[in-house]
Amino acid sequence: MNLEKIVITEDVNAQLQKTLSEVNFTQVAVLVDDNTLTHCYPIIENVLPSHSLIQINSGEEFKTIKTCSTIWKKLTSHAFDRKGLLINLGGGVIGDMGGFCARTYKRGLQFINLPTTLLAQVDASIGGKLGIDFEGLKNHIGLFSEPDQVIVDPVFLNSLPKEELTSGFAEVIKHNLIADVANWNRLNKLQLNDINWVNTIRHSIEIKKRVVEEDPFESGKRKILNFGHTIGHAVESYRMLMGKRILHGEAVALGMIAETQLSYQKKMITEYEKDAIEEYIDSKFNRIDIEADEIEKVVSYAVQDKKNEGNTILAALLDGIGSARWDIQLTSEEAKASLRYYANYT
Ligand SMILES: NC(=O)c1ccc[n+]([C@@H]2O[C@H](COP(=O)([O-])OP(=O)(O)OC[C@H]3O[C@@H](n4cnc5c(N)ncnc54)[C@H](O)[C@@H]3O)[C@@H](O)[C@H]2O)c1
Ligand SMILES: [Zn+2]
Repeated sequence: MNLEKIVITEDVNAQLQKTLSEVNFTQVAVLVDDNTLTHCYPIIENVLPSHSLIQINSGEEFKTIKTCSTIWKKLTSHAFDRKGLLINLGGGVIGDMGGFCARTYKRGLQFINLPTTLLAQVDASIGGKLGIDFEGLKNHIGLFSEPDQVIVDPVFLNSLPKEELTSGFAEVIKHNLIADVANWNRLNKLQLNDINWVNTIRHSIEIKKRVVEEDPFESGKRKILNFGHTIGHAVESYRMLMGKRILHGEAVALGMIAETQLSYQKKMITEYEKDAIEEYIDSKFNRIDIEADEIEKVVSYAVQDKKNEGNTILAALLDGIGSARWDIQLTSEEAKASLRYYANYT
């Protein structure tokens, strides 16, 4: 397939028709979860050719090999061959898992993503990471492979619950903090209601795309996209195990505050910059409760992070606003101190 890889549009139907006319396919399946079936499928239904609908339960807890089996069985029962096309209509869970199922079914179906959450539009659909969770470990099984096309239309955000929109916004904040100080200075004066989504999404995608193109397999620079994620992921994994729900973006917001403090401690940003970042994130996200005795356990997850080498924690920290450095070593004590700072125990 020789499609334009990422298309940002305000007319998803026109774009989808164009795409379908350019793709050579034998059959089409659309992967949805309960929410995207209700809110997003009706938007595109009329322009789809004859297709099978594959519906799965919504939520990270279903991003598993068991759900993949369901998807592969459906494709098999409809006798999909390698010229089949899977359309992933949903958030990051649908995109990551649908892409994984597509690329492993008969060694590779064609697939396109129609991301329907802000997080999937600015982050998960870009960069080719596909996969599922395994035995409680996030994205433990997967591969790198770009979708044949990503079609992004902010229309899908209209039905998105406010907390999901805010959660995705954490990645927008991250992209600006690591790569664009001028835009950060504009952004941090805005409320979510004032935001022009097409422009904001385009800008965020451009940053992620640029970074990924320089380092597709995350051997170096791509790691700057993990700003906020070393501590954030650790909290997310810990809470997942405890059955305490936390949205990805909420964990990243927490992680960005903790890692901004670490950047400050390592004299990579000024106190003024640290305070401004913290104030902005606090204006969008409530602080997450972390008990003093949970900090040790959370940091043990940071030590196990698959992005580390050996037993040292490696993080991406800010190097001034609008720039970041990766593979900065943290001691467990430093990581714990940043969480104590976040939770106000110091
Ligand atoms: N591949 C990557 O590079 C990458 C990057 C970041 C995150 N991720 C993954 O993305 C996932 C999180 O993505 P997410 O936040 O989109 O989660 P999600 O897919 O679970 O969507 C969040 C919720 O919103 C609902 N929803 C989706 N679109 C909707 C709409 N338009 N209207 C109403 N409800 C809607 C979903 O059903 C779900 O309940 C995680 O599994 C994470 O690992 C992947
Ligand atoms: Zn993230």
